[in-house]
Amino acid sequence: SRIFALIPAAGMGKRMGAGSNKQYLLLDGMPILARTVSVFEAAPFIDGIYLVSPEQEIPFCHSEVVDRYGFSKVRSIVPGGAERQHSVCNGLDAMAGAAADDDLVLIHDGVRPFVSQQVLKTAADAAMQYGAAVVAVPVKDTVKVVRGGVIAETPPREELWLAQTPQAFRYGLIRDAHARAKAEGFLGTDDASLIEHQGGEVRIVTGVYRNIKITTPEDLVLAEAFLKGKG
Ligand code: CTP
Ligand code: MG
Repeated sequence: SRIFALIPAAGMGKRMGAGSNKQYLLLDGMPILARTVSVFEAAPFIDGIYLVSPEQEIPFCHSEVVDRYGFSKVRSIVPGGAERQHSVCNGLDAMAGAAADDDLVLIHDGVRPFVSQQVLKTAADAAMQYGAAVVAVPVKDTVKVVRGGVIAETPPREELWLAQTPQAFRYGLIRDAHARAKAEGFLGTDDASLIEHQGGEVRIVTGVYRNIKITTPEDLVLAEAFLKGKG
């Protein structure tokens, strides 16, 4: 079966507060989104890439990311929706003509440029075997459940993982899970939660801590540091 990438990049970057969309901020001269796409472009096992962008930014995404860096695997840039889930759903719909039910789709945040080909491969292998797999890392801090300003619970740390992306699925499975969530009005913050919501099983594969989601200004400082330490 073939392996596609679906990269949502249609957010507004509110927590970054940069005044422009964070996916186009430059890291060492190259837009964050272009760095992310380049990992998939370079991975020989990826057959095609679908990007999701705010509708009014599609031409910019075309010229400043796809054309500028010559990404030949990008098949389409799809308009996003109000929430990440809607953006992913639009992307899955756009793939319908190209992807068969048992093809794989790796859904990956446009603002996680430090993912590696090896992590993509691990996620794809697990999804090939189990149907649904999420890259995650063990939490480092102790996590508290807080209600009304008071600690209600301290879940055992060894059971807690931070979900990252890629989240990898059989295309038919995740498409149906999105359709069902939409019909039921269920909104999740990641794609795995839609499978969980319908009682499905999702495997965890261990990722790497440097695969950060660039969310707040501190993350840009970290990102610059990762780039400097590369060579
Ligand atoms: N995303 C999307 N469509 C949305 C919201 C988010 O495609 N309606 C994408 C973002 O562009 C990002 C990824 O989902 O690549 C992860 O989302 P997040 O880090 O929350 O980005 P933003 O939503 O842009 O940031 P914020 O929540 O701070 O506004
Ligand atoms: Mg968001």
